[in-house]
Amino acid sequence: MTAPDDMLAAARAVRANAHAPYSSFAVGACLRTASGRIFAGCNVENSAYPQGWCAEVSAIGSMVAAGESRIVEVLVLAGGDELCTPCGGCRQALSEFAGPETPVHVCGPEGLRKTVALGELMPYAFGPENLEGT
Ligand code: THU
Repeated sequence: MTAPDDMLAAARAVRANAHAPYSSFAVGACLRTASGRIFAGCNVENSAYPQGWCAEVSAIGSMVAAGESRIVEVLVLAGGDELCTPCGGCRQALSEFAGPETPVHVCGPEGLRKTVALGELMPYAFGPENLEGT
C-alpha cells in the first residue's frame, strides 16, 4: 500500500507547526473522513508536561469541530528510527470514530514505512457499542 499524497503532504506541513519544545519530537497526523475531506493536526506540548496532547488528538478535534465523525484512513508522520504508531490513548480515541479495518499509514519524513489496520493496533477495543443496551 502507498500513503496518499494529499494526506502525506498535509501531515508534513502541519508537523512543521508542532509545538514540541520539551520532547523535541514533532508529529503530524492526518485523517480522511467518509466524505473525502482530510483533517490534519500536530502535537501541542506545554510546560506542565503531562498536559500536552498528541497530533492525532489535534486532528480529531478539527474533524469533530467541522461536524464530521467517520474516519476511513489515518496517517501519522514522525522522525526517529522506530515506527511512530499512535500511542495507547490515541488508539482509543481513533477507535471512537474508525473501524478495525481502517488503515493507519505510519510514516517517517521520507514517506511511508508501514500500513497497519487499526484493529491490529487495538484488538478487542472498547467502543461505543459496549454502551449500547446497558
Ligand atoms: N506523540 C504524538 O503526537 N503522537 C503519537 O502517536 C506518539 C506521540 C507526541 C506526544 C508528545 O508530544 C511527543 O510525541 C513525545 O511523546
